[in-house]
Amino acid sequence: MAMATSPFLHPIHILEFRRCPFLPLNSQFPPRLHFLPRRFPSSSTIRASSAVLMESVYRDTSTRQDQAKETEIFACPVCYEPLIRKGPPGLNLSAIYRSGFKCRRCNKSYSSKDMFLDLTVTAGLRDYAEVQPVRTELFRSPLVSFLYERGWRQSFNRSGFPGRDEEFKMAQEYFKPAEGGLLVDVSCGSGLFSRKFANSGVYSGVIALDFSENMLRQCYNFIKQDDTLLTSNLALVRADVSRLPFSSGSVDAVHAGAAVHCWPSPSNAIAEITRILRSGGVFVGSTFLRYTSSTPWIIRPLRERILQGYSYLTEEEIEDLCTSCGLTNYSRKIQQSFIMFSAQKP
Ligand SMILES: C[S@@+](CC[C@H](N)C(=O)[O-])C[C@H]1O[C@@H](n2cnc3c(N)ncnc32)[C@H](O)[C@@H]1O
Repeated sequence: MAMATSPFLHPIHILEFRRCPFLPLNSQFPPRLHFLPRRFPSSSTIRASSAVLMESVYRDTSTRQDQAKETEIFACPVCYEPLIRKGPPGLNLSAIYRSGFKCRRCNKSYSSKDMFLDLTVTAGLRDYAEVQPVRTELFRSPLVSFLYERGWRQSFNRSGFPGRDEEFKMAQEYFKPAEGGLLVDVSCGSGLFSRKFANSGVYSGVIALDFSENMLRQCYNFIKQDDTLLTSNLALVRADVSRLPFSSGSVDAVHAGAAVHCWPSPSNAIAEITRILRSGGVFVGSTFLRYTSSTPWIIRPLRERILQGYSYLTEEEIEDLCTSCGLTNYSRKIQQSFIMFSAQKP
């Protein structure tokens, strides 16, 4: 029975079943079951900086249609129309899990799978399965996702990554102009930085976003060990960085740690990040460089060959991409192959 595997079988929750809010009562679809805790944590208001800010009060209206009137910070990944939400307000895991989302234009519904909200274009497809490039598929594996925070990530330090605490501090410095706003941790992996951003109390909301279902499951496993995080404004979303499920100009800060080299198309990803940032919003990314100015010329072709199939860029390419997407105030810090860069939406 579904109850036995639900991640929301937490002792504080007394559960009952409810159908997905967007399925008509006489629906031909197999009924979807949603867990409805009677007690759930209240959440503070989320400040997103655009007109698509979610209405924070869930109204008890008389008809099913009227109930689906809330606008959302999430947008349809197909057409970017803000999704309509039905369910309790808030960005915490429980509220998102118990909500149904629907695009008025595409008539497509989105809901939580396991404990994350699936906002990929392929969400809910029955027959079509898409295979992404190796650098994306690698992280969808349960083993790699499990090992990620248990040694894999720490091994980056050998290439010059300063380590989680120091990288977090560096990112926080860059994010100063976005304090108090909504932060999206794109390609969050197992959520090592998302948890820190959420715990910092500096942001009104944090969205941990990744393409890998197993990374998001790891995220949840770490989050549930901390009651404060469980009730904070921290949501888990599955999405493709090249098709971000947010309206244009709706996000204050985007973080992408150790991620650019894994993206199928860094140019599409940075264009998308630029699109969702509000004016003045900040993008902070880190990655491995293909080589630096100090890498001997003789080694460069070898590195090109070994790193073929990955999006390892040079310092100049990263800056070029950011500026060609219209981002300004580009700045970066480099240590061996590690680069952390920041740019701002004008
Ligand atoms: C090396 S991990 C980085 C995790 C974490 N941000 C960190 O700093 O350690 C790269 C992440 O990029 C994600 N990724 C790869 N392709 C993606 C895509 N198309 N859209 C979103 N995330 C993607 C992977 O699933 C993986 O979790």
